[in-house]
Amino acid sequence: MSDAKTIDWSALRKDFPILDQKIHGKPLIYFDNAATSQKPRAVIDALVHYYEHDNANVHRGIHELSNRATNKFEAARARAAKFINAKSADEIVFVRGTTEAINLVASSWGTKNLKAGDVILLTEMEHHSNLVPWQMLAQKTGANISYLPITGDDGLLDLSKLETVLTPRVKIFSLVHISNSLGTLNPVAELCARARKLGIVTLVDGAQSAGHLPVDVQGIGCDFFAFSGHKICGPTGIGILWGRQEILDAMPPYQGGGEMILSVEYQKTEFKRAPHRFEAGTPDISGPIGLHAAMDYLDAIGRENIWRHDQELANYAYDQLAGLKNIRLFGPKARSESRAGVVSFLLKDVHAHDVVTLADQAGVALRGGHHCTQPLMHKLGVESTARASFYFYNTQAEVDRFVEVVKEIQKFFGS
Ligand SMILES: Cc1ncc(COP(=O)(O)O)c(C=O)c1O
Repeated sequence: MSDAKTIDWSALRKDFPILDQKIHGKPLIYFDNAATSQKPRAVIDALVHYYEHDNANVHRGIHELSNRATNKFEAARARAAKFINAKSADEIVFVRGTTEAINLVASSWGTKNLKAGDVILLTEMEHHSNLVPWQMLAQKTGANISYLPITGDDGLLDLSKLETVLTPRVKIFSLVHISNSLGTLNPVAELCARARKLGIVTLVDGAQSAGHLPVDVQGIGCDFFAFSGHKICGPTGIGILWGRQEILDAMPPYQGGGEMILSVEYQKTEFKRAPHRFEAGTPDISGPIGLHAAMDYLDAIGRENIWRHDQELANYAYDQLAGLKNIRLFGPKARSESRAGVVSFLLKDVHAHDVVTLADQAGVALRGGHHCTQPLMHKLGVESTARASFYFYNTQAEVDRFVEVVKEIQKFFGS
């Protein structure tokens, strides 16, 4: 395993063909990694190889191609288990992404276990994917939703309020590991331990964490963990729901159809055990295969190294931006132990969309908007922010150029 200091981070850029291009005549600076990451050659090659050599449906045929496709598909499941230190591949459910993973839990576990008066606990910084499914479940069951508040612009969870909201009426606590809008790393292990003491089930939304730092679901002590392949260098359309075996086995199926059954009669069906009972129909097969290549790629670099690199860039960007006038920064301060590689900001009297549009003209890909966290934006008293989100193929020189572009935008608007 290499050390963060000795890794030639710029050289890794060569693994990403898409990065070598100009946008509006300027070298592309891709700072929209929280939305989706770019894909290395190894992942693209794995997808092409699968379609050129092994394509067949899984778990169905007994011919050679079907066996190969099935073996690769199941090898990806085992790889995903290792990636997050799950006890067994049987705890890994293939889903479309974080959104589907949370919908699966809300629909299957939630419908079975919640009743009127129960409480679903979330935090004020959740992505719509970890909010809307619970609202739908609350409407269906009569459960209520409560929120662990945030402290303000510095985007930390207000742990002084934990005791007030973490009551025995709470049946599930679902929270984000790293906020996509604030760049906050939450103390999930500590929070899950507190919940566990009260017998509360926990779900961690790992959409922004799984590809950026080492994840150990047993160490975190949660009951469910969800992430998306496309944010960790893998393809779109594939994600992982991890659940403790005993909880998954006790959950009813999410969708019905082929592949998830042991036997079907005209009036009744016997279902397979988890994870297959949750994977109805022909799944995305190339997705797990591409994701397998992505997980191998990331772990060859080392996620602890990626995390250090992300943090260094974020601290550097935060410091540079904090030195400007008329800027409002969101999320933990630079060098706070809670700071991850996402920096959100607003320029005085400039709409976030204008920042993003002008940055794009300079070749810099940012994101502006509510980032699917509208309630959080309202809590902060804004409609939107501009956001730069980093990954290991980004460089300090790119941050320098980005800060120059922000200064040019301020000049243009006289802000
Ligand atoms: C924190 C967080 N949760 C959930 C999601 C939803 O992920 P997906 O759209 O891949 O399902 C995102 C996507 O941006 C996210 O950042």
